[in-house]
Amino acid sequence: MPRIHLEKGELLRVFGPAALGITKGQVEVLGARYSTGEKIIVHRLRSYTVLALEETILEANLASQGTIQAADQEDPYLEWRKTAEEIIKAKPRIVMVIGQVDSGKSSVSILLSNTALNNGEKPAVIDGDVGQADIGPPGFISLSYPDSKTLWMRTLKPYAMKFIGDIKPQGHMFQIIQSIKQLINTALRDNKTPVIIDTDGWVMDTYATIYKSTLIEEIRPDHLVVIGDQLYEIYNKYSSLGIRIHKIKPPPSKRERSREDRRYLRAEKYKEYLDGGKPVRINMTKTIISGHPLFYGAPVDPELIKEVIGVKPVYATKTPDTLYMVFQEPIRNQRLDLLKNAFGVQRIRYYTAGFEKNAYAALISDTSDQPAIIEKIDFANKIIYLKTKNTINTCIIRLSRYKLTEEYHETPLEI
Ligand SMILES: Nc1ncnc2c1ncn2[C@@H]1O[C@H](COP(=O)(O)OP(=O)(O)OP(=O)(O)O)[C@@H](O)[C@H]1O
Ligand SMILES: [Mg+2]
Repeated sequence: MPRIHLEKGELLRVFGPAALGITKGQVEVLGARYSTGEKIIVHRLRSYTVLALEETILEANLASQGTIQAADQEDPYLEWRKTAEEIIKAKPRIVMVIGQVDSGKSSVSILLSNTALNNGEKPAVIDGDVGQADIGPPGFISLSYPDSKTLWMRTLKPYAMKFIGDIKPQGHMFQIIQSIKQLINTALRDNKTPVIIDTDGWVMDTYATIYKSTLIEEIRPDHLVVIGDQLYEIYNKYSSLGIRIHKIKPPPSKRERSREDRRYLRAEKYKEYLDGGKPVRINMTKTIISGHPLFYGAPVDPELIKEVIGVKPVYATKTPDTLYMVFQEPIRNQRLDLLKNAFGVQRIRYYTAGFEKNAYAALISDTSDQPAIIEKIDFANKIIYLKTKNTINTCIIRLSRYKLTEEYHETPLEI
């Protein structure tokens, strides 16, 4: 086991998987301080810069791909921690972090949270990234109240979660902004400050820029941390609103995550929130179902459809331009087009019962939504069978855009 001797102020870059035991001295990682006898675990998908706060001896245990490199004084960590200290000293209410994918947004958010805790503050962290979803499960925006140092946002427990229903932010701008605002209000009501907002990495096109700009304008953070020069040039203008803009650099070398790594991380979160869910039956007539176009229209009497095509669906609805139907068996009916005239619609959409099996969904409430998996919708008897770990009183079940396989991988839900 290599033994590493660090002088005060020395920097080290550690790539997981690794375990660092502190034999003597004290180090700091993302603002979290570790002293003699403590251990730092670096996951295989993480890397950190370690700063020696005094003369320190470390015992490093490196597995497979794990490595340790010396880092010089140019390492951006020193700039990061200076920025974090400056922000926390100003006692802000709201701090937002923006940057590209893998630029260190979540790490900076955790650095801010640890720094706030070191200063005796009671921070709140909002995970606004539906795709990476470090706190709650994927497809959710979540709020956590960290009460002790941590290195990885994934270890935080959610206090409240809001369902967005997609792992891509595209097309959900207003819902995401609305949910973040609601969680900020919850945190401020609970006297948590600073509220630290981590965002998704969608920043590199015009729509993304509109989305992030609207988010800033709606939330009005006191401080905005921008990772990278290019983004700083775009968002620096918000200083005119009184927002303090801080530019920092991304880490120069880091543990990158492949598509498979990200899929694995999402699967782990689905597992955490869905495994062991208990069966629940919900009466469709007393609950709003949303998230899927089938459920938004006015009810249509299946008998009326049978009169036109000779086959009776188990469920049918009509929006102003589309007739939606669910049939018990797959159908091949040449006469479906006749329904357009009969019901005055331009489009016909139909599904076979069972299309909804394993759809990822949520029980919606005013304060915090609960993830669930749809087992079956019994359209004839108007009962939804689902599984969830926490039953809450709800009057809305919202479906996501996808289903989950047994391995918790996303596959599209027919829409
Ligand atoms: N100072 C640092 N030195 C080296 N690596 C670092 C440092 N800070 C963060 N990293 C690593 O960089 C990678 C990206 O960090 P992080 O997850 O914080 O970025 P992100 O912008 O939130 O990514 P995503 O877009 O996936 O949410 C991680 O592997 C993290 O461990
Ligand atoms: Mg992140």
